[in-house]
Amino acid sequence: MSEIRHFVDIEALSGDTLRDILDEAKARKSARGERGKAAVDDSRPMEGRLLAMVFDKPSTRTRISFDVAMRQLGGQTLVANAADMQLGRGESVADTARVLSRYVDIIMIRTHAPEILDEMIANATVPVINGLTDATHPCQLMADVMTYEEHRGTIAGKTVTWAGDGNNVADTWIQGAARFGYALRLATPEELRPATEVLARARDAGADVTVTGDLETALNDTDCVVTDTWVSMHDGDSTDRHNLLAPYQINERTMALARDDAVFMHCLPAHRGEEVTAEVIDGPRSVVWDQAENRLHAQKGILSWCLG
Ligand code: CP
Ligand code: NVA
Repeated sequence: MSEIRHFVDIEALSGDTLRDILDEAKARKSARGERGKAAVDDSRPMEGRLLAMVFDKPSTRTRISFDVAMRQLGGQTLVANAADMQLGRGESVADTARVLSRYVDIIMIRTHAPEILDEMIANATVPVINGLTDATHPCQLMADVMTYEEHRGTIAGKTVTWAGDGNNVADTWIQGAARFGYALRLATPEELRPATEVLARARDAGADVTVTGDLETALNDTDCVVTDTWVSMHDGDSTDRHNLLAPYQINERTMALARDDAVFMHCLPAHRGEEVTAEVIDGPRSVVWDQAENRLHAQKGILSWCLG
């Protein structure tokens, strides 16, 4: 039997595989036409296939883009909230994985600890997609790279600056640096820096990643500015966190330190007036709506790769 293709993390896949997924995403996007909605692409490669999505955290983009992607490819979907499943009453993830594998062709899970995803993968007999954990968000990075490249050409050799919390999305950008060939500067407060193992693994893989507390230096002459919420779904909200992160806000003054042609990116949901001001996220350098749209196209690339 051939090996099951799980979309688990950026660092688990080769640069060539990630590029193949993006090529498929781009081809699917151009086949659909304007904003991905016109039904020009009538091929139905997922006909007869069913995607189950298990959510242990809220979602707008991931849930709806996977649902629409699967339907546009001719497949079907179902959504299960973990709290409403027996998982919520203590049934193991392993048993859940075994059972779901008997019903559906592919599973996407958004959950808490990465170990839950690992347990799902270890016990599923169908492909499993990481729809975000406390540690990473690989589907998001695929859409982000696709978006940058649509606007500015290849991301290889470019400089990306991450501003703010060293969270799950930051760790995914770290994993992407070696695979996609961009240099990454992270400007984060000392208390919220990415884990040293995550940085060490990326550097061992050849990534050019630097970490600083100084946002202004990190933004100087950069090609791409990225930020995310100050309070992720797995964080407790606190005044401390807001105080620590306030100096890392992307606003007109800080955005002006980047190159004139730098783009602003945010995976959303955003909090205007916190990590970014309205002038920037709603301004001419922001590509956030293209990022959100490209989740749909990127999911098609991911689903197609997983299901061969
Ligand atoms: N960016 C993202 O994953 O959004 P959702 O939480 O709405 O899925
Ligand atoms: N860092 C955010 C990303 C949301 C898509 C979170 O985990 O809540």
